[in-house]
Amino acid sequence: MSKQALESVAQAMVARGKGILAADESMGTIKRRFDSIKIESNENNRRAYREMLFATKGVEEAISGVILFDETIRTKTSDGTPFPELLAKKSIIPGIKVDKGPVDLPGFPAEVVTEGLDGLRGRLKEYKELGAKFAKWRAVITIGDRIPTYTCLQANGHALARYAALCQETEIVPIVEPEVLLDGNHTIEQSQEVTEKTLKVTFNELFLQRVHLEGMILKPSMVVSGKDNPRQAGVEEVAQRTIQCLKRTVPAAVPGIAFLSGGQSAVSATEHLNAMNKLGPHPWQVSFSYARALQDPALKAWKGEAGNVTTAQRIFYHRAKMNSAARSGSYTSQMESAA
Ligand code: 13P
Repeated sequence: MSKQALESVAQAMVARGKGILAADESMGTIKRRFDSIKIESNENNRRAYREMLFATKGVEEAISGVILFDETIRTKTSDGTPFPELLAKKSIIPGIKVDKGPVDLPGFPAEVVTEGLDGLRGRLKEYKELGAKFAKWRAVITIGDRIPTYTCLQANGHALARYAALCQETEIVPIVEPEVLLDGNHTIEQSQEVTEKTLKVTFNELFLQRVHLEGMILKPSMVVSGKDNPRQAGVEEVAQRTIQCLKRTVPAAVPGIAFLSGGQSAVSATEHLNAMNKLGPHPWQVSFSYARALQDPALKAWKGEAGNVTTAQRIFYHRAKMNSAARSGSYTSQMESAA
């Protein structure tokens, strides 16, 4: 493993003004997204949708990398170009989701642990040959009555760290994603406490597995109020609590933090990122790795119709550029209406 090679990819993933597009929806998730616009999730529609996003003119100004799914990394465009090649031609780094999703944690009701370590070394080698330079593994933490337990945080942190070490052995940059769900009626204080614990435990496990911190990216959730809590914290509070939480837990050796959007609206995700960068400079790059917050407006405009591709691409480009502006704290709401 070349530490330097890992570091230079990690730095490029969080280059100034850029962030990551998560387009690694599993079969179940993409079906739910397509259900929302009433189109069938078949190979053809999935290819058409992802090709529309990846081929958007100029999107490389704001997007440094794309996370693909197992099917997507093997998909070719309508003219026969493999997706990883299409991206690489635009200087966008191809990445791959490698976890196999969450399963119930036995003995711990309402808690889950992510699977996928068995055979991972072999799968990483194959993905590398297909062009992947980074990978992603998502752990899911739920806030509820007396949960998360320490056992759940530790089991998920251990799996994330084992995954990250295997990636680095293959010279693939691991995105370490411990997502604290915003589902529930918890307060923002509870969200901060759980996120802090989760990150503490995760970085302890990364240390135990000898993960090279300079050659990884953290993908956390923001500290927000539970979706069903009547008091929804404002943009400033979210930004301050999230940064405070990260400063307490994420070593400065980590080159970048790329947030997930987690079900926030597209504009909220941009506003939060912008407010956090306004509080900078920070020891790490503060960036984005959104799926829904980057894709949803474009998905709704596309509706599965070829005639809507140009409009949907314009909308996708706009969202990417808004988040690019938020990377330096220079986003304003006027930029939305101007477009
Ligand atoms: P969202 O931005 O939609 O939360 O998705 C990010 C992601 O990659 C989830 O694993």
